[in-house]
Amino acid sequence: MMNQEDLFKKIIAHSKEYGFVFPSSEIYDGLSAVYDYGQNGVALKLNIREYWWKAMTMLHSNIVGIDSAIFMHPTIWKASGHVGAFNDPLIDNKDSKKRYRADVLVEDYILKIEDKVKKEVAKAEKRFGESFDKEQFIATNGRVVEYNKTIREIQIRLAQVQNDNDLPAFKALIEELQIACPVSGTRNWTDVRQFNLMFDTKLGSLSDDANKIYLRPETAQGIFVNYSNVAKTSRLRIPFGIAQIGKAFRNEIVARQFIFRMREFEQMEMQFFIKPGQEDTWFEYWKATRIAWHKNLGIDASKYRFHDHEKLAHYATAATDIEFEFPFGFKEVEGIHSRSDFDLKQHQEFSGKKLQYFDNEENASYIPYVVETSIGLDRMFLLILSAAYEEETIENEGKSDIRVVLKIPAPLAPVKAAIMPLVKKDGLPEKAKEILRSLAFDFNCQYDEKDSIGKRYRRQDAIGTPYCITVDHDTLTTNTVTIRDRDTMLQERISIDTLAEVIDKKVSMKTLLKNIDANK
Ligand code: GAP
Repeated sequence: MMNQEDLFKKIIAHSKEYGFVFPSSEIYDGLSAVYDYGQNGVALKLNIREYWWKAMTMLHSNIVGIDSAIFMHPTIWKASGHVGAFNDPLIDNKDSKKRYRADVLVEDYILKIEDKVKKEVAKAEKRFGESFDKEQFIATNGRVVEYNKTIREIQIRLAQVQNDNDLPAFKALIEELQIACPVSGTRNWTDVRQFNLMFDTKLGSLSDDANKIYLRPETAQGIFVNYSNVAKTSRLRIPFGIAQIGKAFRNEIVARQFIFRMREFEQMEMQFFIKPGQEDTWFEYWKATRIAWHKNLGIDASKYRFHDHEKLAHYATAATDIEFEFPFGFKEVEGIHSRSDFDLKQHQEFSGKKLQYFDNEENASYIPYVVETSIGLDRMFLLILSAAYEEETIENEGKSDIRVVLKIPAPLAPVKAAIMPLVKKDGLPEKAKEILRSLAFDFNCQYDEKDSIGKRYRRQDAIGTPYCITVDHDTLTTNTVTIRDRDTMLQERISIDTLAEVIDKKVSMKTLLKNIDANK
C-alpha cells in the first residue's frame, strides 16, 4: 500500500498535470495558498456545485437560493462578531522565524500520538490475523489505552485555553508538551497572540479608515442581512432555508495542505430559520441530511465521521464537523452549527431594523433561531480527488503496468465520454465527430484521435472519464461502437442508437439526486 504522504504528493502533481488545479500566478512564482482551477477542475467544481445546489434548493421546497455581494456594509462584521472575535492564535519560533497557529501545533502533536495508536493496531492486526477484534484491542491494550487517555487530556486542555482565550496558558501548554519547531527543532517560542483573519480594503477614492471594508470571511452574513427581503418576497413560512454558494476570504496564518486551507475559497452554505426551542430537532435533521448527501456518492463510508466541537465559534451554541479521512488524516469538510438567534439579534441591534417573524399559529413575534450547514467547495473537491485517485497494476500483453485512474463518482466526472476513431482515416474521424455532435447536447464529451487506443484510454482514466467510445470499421456497416467502462475496463459492442441512454444511466445527476430521496 502507498504511503499516505506520497499519495498526497501524487494527487497534487496529478491535479496539475491533468488540468485540475494550478498554483495561482504560477509564472510569477505563485501566490501562497491561492489556486486556479484548470479545464477539468472547473468542470468537476461545477458538478459538485450542481449536486449541492439541487439537493438543497430543488429537493427541499422550503429552501431558496440567493447570490449576495462579496462587499458588504462594514458594520455587518462588527455585528456578526468577526471584527472582534474572528481570530486565530499565532506563535513564532524565534530561531527559524517561522509562524504557526498555536492550535495547529497542538493538534499536530495529537496526530503523532494517533499515529502511534494506528501502528499498534496494525501490528496487532498482523499478529492475530482473522481473529483480531479491533474494538476490543483498542479498549483493552495497555499502551493504546494510555495513548488515548493522553489524547483526550490534551484535547480538553486545548479546548479550555481556546474557550477562555487564555493566551499565556496556551503558551504554557505548548511548552509543557515540549513541542519543538519543525524547522529549527528548538522550543524558543514567542508569546501567543491573536490575529484577525479578515482581509480589508478601501471603498472609493478616499483612503481613510471610514471607508474600510472587508472581503467576506463567510457567505452566511449575506444570507442573514437578506433574511427579511427573502421572507417578505418569497412568502415562505418558518421553517425555511436560504442557500448560497460563493467566494470567501481568510488571511490564514498557516497555509498548507494544498487546497485544503486557502486564502480565497468557495463556500456552500445554508441557513435554516426555525422556531426557538426546535433547534435540537433541526440540528439532528441537518446532521442526518448532510451525511446522507455525502454517503450517496458511494465513497467508502468508513472514511467519514462526525466530530463534535469542544471549542465553539463565537456564534455557535452547538456544532459538529463532518470529517473525512484525507491522506493527511481525518479533517473537517463541513460544519453544522446551531447559531441560536445570535446573528439576527445582532443585526437587529446594529441596524436598528426589526428582524422578527410573526408566527400566526403562536400569534406572537420572535427572532428565528438558525441551524446552518456550511461546506467548503474546494475541500469537497479535494475529498473527491483523494477518494478517487488509484494506481492499479494491470497485465498488458504479458507485461505488468501501472494504470492511474480517477474513480470520480460518474455524475461528477468532468468529462462523461471520450469518442475515439480507431484510425485517423477511412471516414472513421467523420463518423466519430458525428457521434460527438449528437451527444454534446447532453454530456460533456471529448474527441481524441491521437496515439494508440491504449494511450488514449489512459489519458481518459487519468481524468476520470466514465466511458470511452471507439469507432472502428464495423461501425460504418453495423451502426455499432465499442464502449469501455472506466472502472471494470470491460468493453461492450452496442448500437449507436442506445449510446445516449447507456451513458445517461451511469452519469445522470437526476439519478444521483433521486437516490438521496430513495435512501431517506
Ligand atoms: N458560516 C460558518 C463558517 O464559515 P467554518 O467552519 O469557518 O464555518 C465552513 O467554515 C467550511 O468552509 C469549512 O468546513 C471548510 O470546508 C470551509 N473552509 C473554511 N476555511 C477554509 C479555507 N481557508 N480554505 C478552504 N476551505 C475553508
